[in-house]
Amino acid sequence: MEGSVVVVEQLTKRFGHVWALAGLDLEVRQGTVVGLLGPNGAGKTTTVRILATLLAPDSGRATVAGFDVVRDAEALRSAIGLAGQFAAVDENLTGLENLEMVGRLYHLPKAEARRRARDVLERFGLASASGRTARTYSGGMRRRLDLGASLVGRPQVLFLDEPTTGLDPRSRLGLWEIIRELVQDGTSLLLTTQYLEEADRLADRIAVIDGGKVIAEGTADELKSRVGGEVLELRVADRAEVARAAGAVIGLGPGGAQVDNASGDITLPVGSDGPGILAEAVRRLDAEAVILADIQLRRPTLDDVFLTLTGHATEAEPMDGDAERATSGRRSRRRRRERDR
Ligand SMILES: Nc1ncnc2c1ncn2[C@@H]1O[C@H](COP(=O)(O)OP(=O)(O)O)[C@@H](O)[C@H]1O
Ligand SMILES: [Mg+2]
Repeated sequence: MEGSVVVVEQLTKRFGHVWALAGLDLEVRQGTVVGLLGPNGAGKTTTVRILATLLAPDSGRATVAGFDVVRDAEALRSAIGLAGQFAAVDENLTGLENLEMVGRLYHLPKAEARRRARDVLERFGLASASGRTARTYSGGMRRRLDLGASLVGRPQVLFLDEPTTGLDPRSRLGLWEIIRELVQDGTSLLLTTQYLEEADRLADRIAVIDGGKVIAEGTADELKSRVGGEVLELRVADRAEVARAAGAVIGLGPGGAQVDNASGDITLPVGSDGPGILAEAVRRLDAEAVILADIQLRRPTLDDVFLTLTGHATEAEPMDGDAERATSGRRSRRRRRERDR
């Protein structure tokens, strides 16, 4: 397709009994950012690995920068950059050495490799740490170094696989800033994420992936308008009562409800009759003697889009590690802040 740097058609990949990709279609147009948004296990990394030629598909077709992932793998590799959640940084090398090594992998002359390495370190705020071994870097610095490494070869197309997962909010904001700058320079980007806010902020278009398939695609606004109407959000005063409260209100909306046991938040897309459903929710909870800390109607977010489309929440999936659990707490805090505005 003209103007497209990534074209994926009916891609499948099976691991034993698991269909990691079950007929995935995707397109990234030149100079744009596509966010591939989905929970753990949705097939995001498998997609990126196939597009980066690290893994062969079982069936279907994919091209990147005009190169077929199977037939033109070698040429394809020189057109792309890849960075991700599990930073490919050598801990024993300094920041500068890490990037120089990447330059050498691209067969750059030594002086050019060094020049590009210094440029990247400067740009990513790592110049003063360039002589330190990567093992002394913070998580955010490692991700920046990893992202920097993906740019040394000046790729036309960049793949970022969950670039900010597990980072603290400040490092995440810093990385978003860098990613935005990259895109302004014309790099085409496929970004995978579990964070709706990340997709909302960075992506021109969002493909929602679940079970190895794209289940919805569009701009953030288009996706939000799919939810239709409003969302009822409430918080129980006593978190021990969250399940009982959810039971009382769950049938009120057309779709499912999202329950956050940690914060006591219950979220329920309600369609068009927001005020009526709000009143009914209050009545039912009162009858159950559940005490509320807060209840309100609000406009849909991408979280709600995901819930409406899939019947489950992105971040309610089992996640790997404490950093992830901390994230859902952060999200709740963010929500609270949004609500307080
Ligand atoms: N190498 C593998 N061997 C077996 N199963 C795998 C392998 N890689 C991925 N899977 C499975 O495929 C599905 C999709 O995984 P993945 O693409 O890593 O999802 P995501 O990156 O969205 O979390 C999951 O069910 C995962 O367990
Ligand atoms: Mg992954």
